[in-house]
Amino acid sequence: MITVPVGLAGRSYDILIGPALIDRAGELSAGLLSSRRVIVVTDQTVAPLYGARVVASFKNAGVAATTVTVPPGESSKEFAAFGQLMNALLDQRPDRKTTLVALGGGVVGDLTGFAAASLLRGVDFIQLPTTLLAQVDSSVGGKTGINTRHGKNLIGAFYQPRLVVADTDVLDTLPKRELLAGYAEVAKYGLIDDPAFWEWCEANGAAVLAGDAAKRSYAIEQSCRAKARIVAADERETTDLRALLNLGHTFGHALEAETGFGPDLLHGEAVGAGMAMAFDLSAALGLCSAQDAARVRRHLAAVGLPVRLRSIGGDNRRTWQASRLIEHMRGDKKAEAGKLTFVLARGIGQAFVSRDVDETALHGLLDRTIAA
Ligand SMILES: NC(=O)c1ccc[n+]([C@@H]2O[C@H](COP(=O)([O-])OP(=O)(O)OC[C@H]3O[C@@H](n4cnc5c(N)ncnc54)[C@H](O)[C@@H]3O)[C@@H](O)[C@H]2O)c1
Ligand SMILES: [Zn+2]
Repeated sequence: MITVPVGLAGRSYDILIGPALIDRAGELSAGLLSSRRVIVVTDQTVAPLYGARVVASFKNAGVAATTVTVPPGESSKEFAAFGQLMNALLDQRPDRKTTLVALGGGVVGDLTGFAAASLLRGVDFIQLPTTLLAQVDSSVGGKTGINTRHGKNLIGAFYQPRLVVADTDVLDTLPKRELLAGYAEVAKYGLIDDPAFWEWCEANGAAVLAGDAAKRSYAIEQSCRAKARIVAADERETTDLRALLNLGHTFGHALEAETGFGPDLLHGEAVGAGMAMAFDLSAALGLCSAQDAARVRRHLAAVGLPVRLRSIGGDNRRTWQASRLIEHMRGDKKAEAGKLTFVLARGIGQAFVSRDVDETALHGLLDRTIAA
């Protein structure tokens, strides 16, 4: 088992990574609980796979555990679904010392974290992330929240978990496409500030995706170390540091908005395409070499991510338009006062935040990407 500490004054916690941890969740958390009582929140896909094992692990550690199950998918982050969850939790008569346990992907994690931040004005919570995306990204860092018709994650709280337990074995049941989407966020950490890790990804990404356990653990560990380092230095995104985690996300968000945040394009897939576009734009602006941009696109395509826009959407192929994508970018919550914010790069592992991208260059890049 690997331990990655997240250092935050007064609210530090560990991320535990390794095989067969789900059956030890109770034992590993017991010392952190304020009372012998947890409520596990999970979704209907994950519940039959791992719910009983997690509940049993708490019982074996002398902790009473009950479960609340929500439907799988982004719709569980809607306002109404959040209200239903809060009432279902209150039905179980929790007290301020009850701990919530989020068992699932980023949806369950974001939702449960926000529920924990608001239930009885705040109870502790623990993350048991079961998707690669959740293990390397959403379960770490304390961003929690729900969606509204105005956009995703516009209501929420910075609320840190007490512990994150990432069992690498649970990824065996994750659909390949979800695994690949999570891998885009893994590779992102190399592109941000760790060229050696990017090289490792180029050499080992296929093995990570094929199920090599040791390489999977290493990829998750390096990702968590990178995210922990950034979050410890800039918990609330008050400087540009945490914003670097948004590499590929301005483009990606526009692609997701255009595809209706639906099944045609998963978040991680959008980020993969977005990172390729961010490097292409950096090259077009003379900031990084064309070779580096080509290298990024080559690796992401090689592992199977849909980096060409014409490959997105299966049977629902669409006509992309640069002007529409730019409109989506302006609507992004990260666009401050309508100013587009991009994470660009001077090379692999040399990302930086830019707020003064020339729109003609952006338009040209989008036109070329759409035509490719
Ligand atoms: N808080 C943050 O910092 C942060 C960062 C990135 C993304 N997010 C959020 O995360 C969400 C996306 O998370 P996600 O990609 O994990 O999606 P998800 O939670 O919807 O999970 C994807 C699918 O996989 C299923 N699943 C989960 N674990 C499984 C397993 N082990 N085996 C089989 N099936 C399994 C789920 O039921 C779901 O159908 C979005 O809402 C996004 O906004 C948050
Ligand atoms: Zn992301």
